[in-house]
Amino acid sequence: MRVFVLLLLFLSSVFSQDKYMDNHSCNECHEKIYEEYQSSSHSKGYFNNELHRNIADKVSGKKYECATCHMPMADNLKELIEGTARPDKTNKTHTDAISCYFCHTIAYVKNAHKHNINTKARQAENYKPTLYGRLENPDDSDKHSSSKNPVYGKKVCMGCHAHKLNENNVTIFKAMDKEQESLECINCHMPELSGGAEKMDKRARGHHASHKFLGIYDKEFRATGIDMNISTKVDGIEVVLTNKMAHPLIIQPARVKYLEVKVLREGKEIWKNYINEPSEDREVFFEYRFKDREGKKVIIPAKAYSFEVNNLEAKESKTVSYKTPRLQKGDVLKATMFVRFAKNDCQSVVMLTDEKYKKANVLKEITHTIEKEEKE
Ligand code: HEC
Ligand code: HEC
Ligand code: HEC
Ligand code: HEC
Ligand code: HEC
Repeated sequence: MRVFVLLLLFLSSVFSQDKYMDNHSCNECHEKIYEEYQSSSHSKGYFNNELHRNIADKVSGKKYECATCHMPMADNLKELIEGTARPDKTNKTHTDAISCYFCHTIAYVKNAHKHNINTKARQAENYKPTLYGRLENPDDSDKHSSSKNPVYGKKVCMGCHAHKLNENNVTIFKAMDKEQESLECINCHMPELSGGAEKMDKRARGHHASHKFLGIYDKEFRATGIDMNISTKVDGIEVVLTNKMAHPLIIQPARVKYLEVKVLREGKEIWKNYINEPSEDREVFFEYRFKDREGKKVIIPAKAYSFEVNNLEAKESKTVSYKTPRLQKGDVLKATMFVRFAKNDCQSVVMLTDEKYKKANVLKEITHTIEKEEKE
């Protein structure tokens, strides 16, 4: 038995060209970064993101084409995409999702029509791998060499986040323009945190780029993406929404974001911008809507032939006016932007058990109290 195991070990070391360093192996020296990363969306994929898995299975029970971006390190990527292999819970290159090693070995990114293409650096055989980043004069370690690479400020996020079209050339999402630099994304989504890039902080850098990649799921962070302002008019109110982000308000088609505006008098609601459903106020109901060949609604974007979207582009503002009952001193105006991570349509086609996907979450809320009665 022991001889057999040794033989296997010997064979696998001779024949494996794959020197993949899994996520957990980075923990030895980059403890903080590893911990941050574990809490991030990039550590989520087919096995631990219910929303993604259920939609992927709905698109196809055979082919896992999503692997290109959601399981990019897979050692059998081609087979997954072609449908001759399925995601495997015992394979680290599958469970590691958007892995550390993958991101840090991107050599360049090629622009393409359906979605961009990440090209990996070739690693010299029998040498430790070279990992790229943005540090000035990075140290090597006994596990990897380090090298500064301009790709990490320019194109590193483009490979997966720029855009995606389905087989019928319908846009499923678009977050970046062709010339947009990733440094912009990094400034908001990877702010500097205290503590060196590795455990010992031998170079006394004192800080590192956050690997939490905070986004829509973080309550405080998501409130920073838009500005809202309410003002009163003679016969009503005006709300201004401004998207402060470097990308459209809606990127992910599973989501919906919408505005609710209320007037409260002595704590009681006397007016609202819709009666039953938020979607009645079309102007401030932001979502992608997909259609089939006949122009009928489809929910799974992979099957769509056309789409329309109500969105706020990067840095765009929108002003909406409402006629309300005459306002009095003491009235409270309340404007709330909500987000559903999985909109109702989406919930109608996939079963979700995690409550967070199902409810309406506050994106941002503001209130304004009327100080004195408006004069005509
Ligand atoms: C071109 C790269 C790319 C491909 C291919 C791709 N995705 Fe994504 N996907 C992304 C990116 C980037 C995000 C994060 C941004 C966002 O939420 O839209 C994402 C996020 C998602 C989310 C939201 C997850 C959450 O927890 O909120 C779902 C659901 C999803 N993808 C489904 C799919 C499915 C299903 C497929 C395959 C049919 C697929 N994606 C293929 C890039 C891709
Ligand atoms: C044995 C310790 C050790 C292990 C294990 C290790 N690293 Fe490092 N890494 C270092 C040291 C030391 C530096 C240099 C830090 C500095 O210069 O401040 C570094 C630097 C880096 C850099 C910066 C490169 C640059 O040019 O900017 C990246 C990226 C990186 N490591 C990624 C990883 C990833 C991903 C893993 C796991 C696959 C990993 N490291 C595993 C010790 C290690
Ligand atoms: C000014 C800060 C800022 C910049 C610059 C920025 N973002 Fe964002 N981004 C945010 C905030 C805040 C959110 C969460 C709020 C929201 O989505 O409404 C967010 C959300 C996201 C999401 C999640 C969307 C979803 O529904 O799942 C992705 C993906 C994303 N950003 C990627 C990027 C990329 C790629 C870039 C570079 C082009 C970038 N961001 C630039 C602030 C920024
Ligand atoms: C989505 C891509 C992505 C993933 C996944 C990722 N990183 Fe990074 N990492 C970056 C980028 C981009 C930078 C450069 C940030 C900057 O501008 O300083 C960076 C920087 C670093 C640095 C240098 C420290 C610094 O302050 O710049 C280290 C070390 C590092 N990453 C290690 C890791 C480890 C370990 C993991 C997994 C636990 C990981 N990274 C996962 C994109 C990624
Ligand atoms: C290999 C593909 C890939 C690369 C490269 C990549 N991402 Fe992502 N990113 C994804 C996918 C896929 C998701 C969604 C994962 C999930 O939730 O299941 C995601 C999620 C995110 C989110 C969280 C969105 C949310 O709110 O849920 C942010 C923020 C983000 N990425 C920022 C970045 C930034 C900044 C870069 C460049 C430094 C980058 N990503 C590079 C594939 C990638």
